Amino acid sequence: MVQILPIILAIESSCDETSASVIQSGKILNNVVASQAIHQKYGGVVPELASRAHQKNIVGVVNEAMHTAGIKNSDLQAIAFTRGPGLMGSLLVGVSFAKGMALALNLPMIEVNHMEAHVLAHFIDEPRPEFPFLCLTVSGGHTQIVLVKNFLEMEVIGQTQDDAVGEAFDKAAKMMGLPYPGGPLIDQYAKLGNANAYKFSQTSMPNLDFSFSGIKTAFLYFLRDKKKEDENFIDKNLNDICASLQKHLISMLMQKLKLASHQTGIKQIAIAGGVAANSGLRNTLNELAQELNWKVFIPEFQYCTDNAAMIAIAAHYKFLAGKFCAMDVAPIPNLGIGS
Ligand code: KG4
Ligand code: ZN
Repeated sequence: MVQILPIILAIESSCDETSASVIQSGKILNNVVASQAIHQKYGGVVPELASRAHQKNIVGVVNEAMHTAGIKNSDLQAIAFTRGPGLMGSLLVGVSFAKGMALALNLPMIEVNHMEAHVLAHFIDEPRPEFPFLCLTVSGGHTQIVLVKNFLEMEVIGQTQDDAVGEAFDKAAKMMGLPYPGGPLIDQYAKLGNANAYKFSQTSMPNLDFSFSGIKTAFLYFLRDKKKEDENFIDKNLNDICASLQKHLISMLMQKLKLASHQTGIKQIAIAGGVAANSGLRNTLNELAQELNWKVFIPEFQYCTDNAAMIAIAAHYKFLAGKFCAMDVAPIPNLGIGS
């Protein structure tokens, strides 16, 4: 039997990136992303402004994806979209746009879980992990260790009980007067600093779960006390502070990832999500790969932060499995993996 190799348009609009991607026969043709600079001056994503920016950007982003892929509307076999998790107002724009296109072109729709898509970003390019593997998904909204059984079956075996690690990076950056999102800036300054200059205490959580709210508060008090001694403390020591904080956050992640590998016996380890772009995290993982005999999978930068290519690859496997959704589907802001 000849296998159907689909052409799918995928749309991502869960937070503050409007993105579209076309996939043909499992190969990503492009990944168009419009980022929203508007949130910078507010020090974080403002949901109302995000949904308005998606409304403004989505037609141009989708047109560009179709045009640069050289694909006509009539070539498409399905429309995929992010159903959740994400911000309701942001998700609604992508879901409604996908419905409009699917209705107009008489095409089936495929709903995609944003967190599952971050994991499946590993199947966009070679080398691809083999099942089962563990994926540490680290973003502005999530910190999870996912046991990935196959393209359609995943289980969260550990997660944060409060803040996400990306949030810890961004809030710490804000405390130091850096603009949003501060994660990439901490990464940049950390490269120039001494990671052993300052020590922070650990909050220990049972099993494979994480907690990042304690370090946020500890960091606030650390800066307050140091500034009492010297009001220019941050300016004078920015590189060392960033390097020390980053080392601390990475060690919290690695402690649980090592435990997960030990408990499951799985040595194929992937990372995903915006924080996976962090160079310190990437270096540490590569070192651990040597030490613990792990096979480590780190996606390309453009597939770490939010993007529609990961939605497209997840949709490709759902298409092959015949998993389409109903036209009356609605976004789910707190959609969990495996639900
Ligand atoms: O996956 P993502 O693009 O969006 C969410 O779904 O949250 O992740 C965004 C998060 C932000 O917290 C941002 O500061 C963080 O990823 N991030 C980084 C780096 N690049 C992005 N954190 C640390 N180092 C980086 N290089
Ligand atoms: Zn994300």
